Amino acid sequence: MRIVLVGPPGAGKGTQAAFLAKNLSIPHISTGDLFRANISQGTELGKQAKAYMDAGNLVPDEVTIGMAKDRMSQPDAENGFLLDGFPRNVSQAEALDETLKTEGMKLDAVLDLEVPEDEVVKRIAGRRVCRKDSSHVFHVTYSPAKQEGVCDVCGGELYQRDDDSEETVRKRLEVYHTQTEPIIDYYRAQGLVVTISALGKVDEVTKRAMDALSRESA
Ligand code: AP5
Ligand code: MG
Repeated sequence: MRIVLVGPPGAGKGTQAAFLAKNLSIPHISTGDLFRANISQGTELGKQAKAYMDAGNLVPDEVTIGMAKDRMSQPDAENGFLLDGFPRNVSQAEALDETLKTEGMKLDAVLDLEVPEDEVVKRIAGRRVCRKDSSHVFHVTYSPAKQEGVCDVCGGELYQRDDDSEETVRKRLEVYHTQTEPIIDYYRAQGLVVTISALGKVDEVTKRAMDALSRESA
């Protein structure tokens, strides 16, 4: 299956993607995680992306689209993928459509996670991610690590993302509404959007998402 996950910052895209990718046996591709991996490795791409991310702005399409295409062309993504955080504006969605068309492929569904803004703010405020791999995500109250400050998965140090400050979160929400939300209408016109509530326990949301995706592909 080829799926796009969409939803505001802190909706739980990364959290859900980990379970959905496992259940569906497809790779989880997060452009945010790819940028953070580049930043921690000190690559040129990471240096370019960091200033945009810290300000809560989108990294320019020229950088992002190439990176996403490159990841999607890896062998593990041959039979499908779960995109998290890409596309994030209409021109990225058009570029993705174009790439898939060239390969004779298409998306199966766009899963839209709906969460009220006050919940998003609580989720982001308590989020801790692993320094070794930012797809390992915890929350100080909702999903605490077994040992405080240490990743359950790989033993890495847990930290608060640089872009999780109150001011940057406000900016990221604004960018979401103005630049990312329009892709929901773009995909709705293609009949691909499935909206679910992302409120409730993590496993309840995963079940809701799996049920919605199986209805969509039936
Ligand atoms: P990115 O890393 O994609 O950030 P985001 O979209 O703002 O989303 P988040 O990762 O903040 O939230 P999430 O929905 O994954 O929530 P999570 O699962 O962690 O992008 C960062 C930056 O990179 C962008 O601002 C931009 O600069 C750049 N970028 C990335 N992609 C780009 C692109 N395509 N184009 C241009 N620029 C790009 O959950 C949040 C918290 O809630 C966690 O603590 C979690 O434990 C908790 N939680 C999750 N589910 C639940 C639940 N059901 N109940 C209680 N708590 C929960
Ligand atoms: Mg994420």
